[in-house]
Amino acid sequence: MSLVDRPCRDLQPALPPALAVTLFCLGLLLAAGAARAEPVGQSLPAPVPGTTAAVYHASAAARDEAPPSLCLQAPLRPDGPPPPGWSATPSLVPAFSRVQGRPAVFLPIADGTDLYGTGEVAGGLRRNRTRTVAWNTDAYGWQRGELSLYQSHPWVLAVRRDGTAYGVIADTPERCLIDLNQGIRFEAAGPEFAVIVVEGPTPQHVVRALGALTGTMPLPPRWALGYHQCRYSYTPDDRVREIAEGFRKRAIPCDVIWLDIDYMDGFRCFTVDTNAFPDLRGLDGELQAQGFRTVAIIDPGIKLEDGYHVFDSGAALDAWVQTPRGKPYEGAVWPGNCVFPDFTIDRVRAWWGGLYGQFLSLGIDGIWNDMNEPAVFNVDGHTMPATNVHRADPDLGGTGTHARFHNVYGMLMSQATYEGVAAARPQQRPFVLTRASHLGGQRWAATWTGDNTASWDHLDMSLAMVLNLGLSGQPLSGPDIGGFVGAGDGPLFARWMGVGALLPFARGHTGKGNIDKEPWSFGREVENTCRLALQRRSRLLPYLYTLAREASLTGLPIARPLFFADPADPALRDMDDAFLLGDDLLVVANVKPGPRDPAAPLPPLSRGAWTEISLVDGDQADPDLPRLFLREGAALPLGPLVQWSDEKPLDEIELLVNPDAAGRAVGSLYEDAGDGPGYRDQACRLTRFTYEAGKSTAVVVEGEWPAGDWRVTTRAVGGR
Ligand code: NOJ
Repeated sequence: MSLVDRPCRDLQPALPPALAVTLFCLGLLLAAGAARAEPVGQSLPAPVPGTTAAVYHASAAARDEAPPSLCLQAPLRPDGPPPPGWSATPSLVPAFSRVQGRPAVFLPIADGTDLYGTGEVAGGLRRNRTRTVAWNTDAYGWQRGELSLYQSHPWVLAVRRDGTAYGVIADTPERCLIDLNQGIRFEAAGPEFAVIVVEGPTPQHVVRALGALTGTMPLPPRWALGYHQCRYSYTPDDRVREIAEGFRKRAIPCDVIWLDIDYMDGFRCFTVDTNAFPDLRGLDGELQAQGFRTVAIIDPGIKLEDGYHVFDSGAALDAWVQTPRGKPYEGAVWPGNCVFPDFTIDRVRAWWGGLYGQFLSLGIDGIWNDMNEPAVFNVDGHTMPATNVHRADPDLGGTGTHARFHNVYGMLMSQATYEGVAAARPQQRPFVLTRASHLGGQRWAATWTGDNTASWDHLDMSLAMVLNLGLSGQPLSGPDIGGFVGAGDGPLFARWMGVGALLPFARGHTGKGNIDKEPWSFGREVENTCRLALQRRSRLLPYLYTLAREASLTGLPIARPLFFADPADPALRDMDDAFLLGDDLLVVANVKPGPRDPAAPLPPLSRGAWTEISLVDGDQADPDLPRLFLREGAALPLGPLVQWSDEKPLDEIELLVNPDAAGRAVGSLYEDAGDGPGYRDQACRLTRFTYEAGKSTAVVVEGEWPAGDWRVTTRAVGGR
């Protein structure tokens, strides 16, 4: 048994030394034996200008027999031999081998190379000398260093000492060890897999290339960038009303209220408990009138019960994942014994998507897909057996075992959901949040980082997780603000809200039976901090939306690691308690308990001067809020303070400028209707602001959005 086929929690005990040496030698022998097959490399058209790329297979036979990729958005079109010079650069050319019969590849790294990506990982930003096992896992209460979380991203971004970069995709959906102890090593179950390598002058080029290969997120509705309030669960309806009223009467900005599983009738998906929610449509209408959207949870486990419409219609379609004996697989989740849709079949995805039409007509705005690793209670490994059978369509490789499709189950579920929601409401943009996903899953859903814990360590890790997800193609993610497991306390909650309100997806959430964790639950002082934190987000919405639009086009993350500011500066490579929002805003968080150390040095950003800024009255004086700095030469468009994202049209802008030595600052603003597909037909506007000689001008550089102009007030900071 190797790392790739063991449940991750078994991995801790060390092997007896003698056995380890024997296994190691055996591995080397096997590797040497298999290394004789001639690898085949082919170059690929540049995914984005300035990059070069190639795909490698272990042999010509492996290439010819390769199953279709489950992470790429389109099949590759190789167009010749690998780029000149690559064969002399070992770090770009994978060495294929077999370890204990399994396909493996290795790429050495040069000294000074730092590694990132690998998706949703529990630890620091820099991934050198870590191991991750790509195997989607219901990792309730996960810990630092946990090997497998909810998602799988067999992708590594490497940044060389000089700031140039490359990235490596192991194109396999199978359980895959990503070992970054000495270089980059992937070892996967299943058949030989292709390795795609992309090279570029900066990490930004390489991350954009990843977006070109695996797809970018669709532009979310603007409200999805507001603050979301969730708990397991707000029930009954009056409790939801209370929460909504709690925000509005305290003037704490909030866009969305979430319904966790207790809104359902006996945890049957697509049903409503009419005792607790006698008129969900009416409730949603009330919420809407107060500016709230509603997101409701839908899990994949379908209660096995004749007469339940989802079970009946799925059974009629023969929709369920099967056992090796060809019977529907049954496993326990919230409603008891369940069956599971086989999302690898197109007609099943279409049926699943079709279920949303009626459901959304209740006034639900967005969908939360949870438990889709898939989680199954009371069985080994907490998921369905690897021997289960998926009758996948030919474009996904045809019938195969769950071992092959496990890591893409959640992603395919979110695809089915996204497509169903889009078809049901073509005039609105779908918003789907998923717990499980795979490389490329950003095409259909945003994500959160699962059942974290109310601890300072988890607050700390949440930043690196969001950053590495962003470097792995997923720009829209965030943690459960305040922690899902455990109570925590006011100081932790305040600090977490301060940081979480500046992450791409901002949602407070906590577990069943836990203490209340609304912004006002910890007393006046914490409430004030939360209000300021969310007011900041409210003012930043135009900028966040501009970044979301950029992410949807290019794959660049919304929250970016500091080294994006200067990829050649080694001092920035390991920093993850500070990050960049876009290129222009630096967020410096204090994720350790206790007051901020006034003598703590600021991140050593060598390029340009960054000036500390305030977005709302009182934010700079609040020691629990992260410090914010504006890049020299940047112009940041701030919106009015709103309680929800479309409370008012954007007709007033405060342009915060930090002029450079020449007295100049530039920035951009993207606008559209905030929802709907019109932006694809130019019903949008990208404006470039330039500040020069004490005056700002605005020029529309893209789009034909007819909306009126804004009144711009310019505020210069930075003393130039
Ligand atoms: C597990 C999810 O991770 C959590 O966020 C949710 O509250 C529970 N399932 C109940 O639906």
